[in-house]
Amino acid sequence: MAYTFPSNFLWGAATASYQIEGAWNEDGKGESIWDRFSHTPGKVTNGDTGDVACDHYHRYLDDIAIMRQLGLKAYRFSVSWPRVVPAGRGIINPRGLDFYDRLVDALLAANIEPFLTLYHWDLPQALQDQGGWENRDAGHAFADYAALMVKRLGDRVTYWTTFNEPGVIAFDGNLSGEHAPGNQDARITFQVAHNLMVAHGLAVQAIRAANPSLLVGIVLNEWGADPASNDPADIAAANVAWERSETHFLDPIFKGHYPLAVHDIVGNDMPKIRDGDMALISQKLDYLGINFYSRNLIAATGTIDPVPGSEYTDMGWEVCAPALRRLLNRLHKEYRLPPIYITENGAAFPDEVSPDGCVHDERRLDYLKNHFIQTRLAMQDGVDVRGYFVWSLFDNFEWGHGFTKRFGIVRVDYETQQRIIKDSGRWYSQVIAANSVEGYYEQGLEPPRS
Ligand code: FCB
Repeated sequence: MAYTFPSNFLWGAATASYQIEGAWNEDGKGESIWDRFSHTPGKVTNGDTGDVACDHYHRYLDDIAIMRQLGLKAYRFSVSWPRVVPAGRGIINPRGLDFYDRLVDALLAANIEPFLTLYHWDLPQALQDQGGWENRDAGHAFADYAALMVKRLGDRVTYWTTFNEPGVIAFDGNLSGEHAPGNQDARITFQVAHNLMVAHGLAVQAIRAANPSLLVGIVLNEWGADPASNDPADIAAANVAWERSETHFLDPIFKGHYPLAVHDIVGNDMPKIRDGDMALISQKLDYLGINFYSRNLIAATGTIDPVPGSEYTDMGWEVCAPALRRLLNRLHKEYRLPPIYITENGAAFPDEVSPDGCVHDERRLDYLKNHFIQTRLAMQDGVDVRGYFVWSLFDNFEWGHGFTKRFGIVRVDYETQQRIIKDSGRWYSQVIAANSVEGYYEQGLEPPRS
């Protein structure tokens, strides 16, 4: 059957500056924490770095030609802060600004809506040297940078995202240490988490002051917490897991307070919160971006992992599309939300180029198809979803995993920089053209209705 989407649905694909641009020290760009981290031996698989990555900085016109071939209606990308403000505050790098200017003009010429993220993890190293996000002052530098970008691009870019996944920034960067800057300290983690929220609020103010007509949002990663069964003990455990791991940013932004269980999570590491912070953090937004990849399955006895019988991606993440519909319904029920965009969804699989020169990535195609269908069903349930960005347009630098995980609907050969549109990409272009997904939804996967 055909699942048809509203005519103005924004079909797109997403990338992030450090993962694709390369040109890490060209044209006046400053060092970022990811440059520093990836250049530190032992931090990234195989010693991979984003020094060159997909060389998008030099190939952006060819890359936009590929987007056009795919028929993308929108492109979600991020700006490298140290490319435009090398030390994070102070001197501006005109050549960095020019790059994003040319990128946006070329997107608009190709009839592709730019969907801009200000921070996808590449903090200027100079700010890290002053304490990074642990230092509340970084938020003021971020707001100045946001205003700078709006003054330059606000006449052409409508969608402005402050942060991509504050949870990953705080926790992976400062608790597990698997991401830059590589701290392992709970006290720092929770102060960073709060300061990111303050920085978000300051940036929202700065963007609106510079241009009140823009649409401003934030992107959160959500996995949801499914109960393992209808047993009340499993349901109770899943609710605790939901509150502990999924609401830490949703609540302050959309309810104006931290989750009631915040003390269970942070213990003695409660961050310093100033008067007025919660009002700053909970300013009205124009959209919420949700990045969805997998789910948590929770029993009274703990998280079930692996889930018997489930398919897993190359990241070790369970494939469970109906969980996306459940998540969207839960968000809709528990919060008063602005329109939602799925700002990332996709899967890493170990693709190969076939002798026919193609990449037959059926598993990725199926993954996307099932998640598109579940999103459409959630929309029928009443959730206001306005667009969808596949992660990722290209195979790219997957953070601590380096180049070992391929998420693209377009393959990148890192030796030659050749791009090949995979079968999933060809199929996606048909979905976009038809504004409709052909597929069927197995009744057995029907999410429980609460
Ligand atoms: C998300 C990130 C994105 C990419 C995907 C796989 O957490 O936002 O950059 O790494 O995961």
